[in-house]
Amino acid sequence: MKQVTYEGLTFEPYISKKDIAARVEELGKEIVRDCAGKMPLFVCVLNGAFPFASDLFRAVESIDAEITFIRLKSYEGTESSGAVKEVIGLHENIEGRTIIIVEDIVDTGNTIFRLIQDLEKSKPAEIKIATLLFKPDALVRPVKPDYVGFSIPTKFIIGYGLDLNEKARNLNDIYILKEA
Ligand code: HPA
Ligand code: MG
Repeated sequence: MKQVTYEGLTFEPYISKKDIAARVEELGKEIVRDCAGKMPLFVCVLNGAFPFASDLFRAVESIDAEITFIRLKSYEGTESSGAVKEVIGLHENIEGRTIIIVEDIVDTGNTIFRLIQDLEKSKPAEIKIATLLFKPDALVRPVKPDYVGFSIPTKFIIGYGLDLNEKARNLNDIYILKEA
């Protein structure tokens, strides 16, 4: 792993592919333990969560589970706009179901807070949050993720699904913005 550059910004290696894989396996075991017999519906928030959702979903192969995909947008460049709008909606009937929202990152919490409000209207039995990354110091909403891969400082991250203006999602490792 070495430094990478996008749009003139330099990022240094932060979490390795190997460490991500090991942590995702652990989260899968926690979900298996909590959700056996509940037939959870994983709701992957595109685009960022797709690598994490793919790995996490296969880490729960010992239980019955389903997956679906939604798309929202709340981030431009390296600063959160705070505005969230749904682009692709959920078509499944989620009434009475255990929902596991799968996110790449919970930062301000605005995106997931708004999503939970939307999902609750359809009366699921419970909504759990699985996020690969969590920035607890950036949180401005009353949101508590149930499954957290890594808690990290309030710094800009890319790789393994996380982007800078849609670039860098295909990096296998996670990188952090290097201080000037
Ligand atoms: N990187 C990429 N996308 C994000 C981040 C981040 O650190 N926080 C919220 N969306
Ligand atoms: Mg996201």
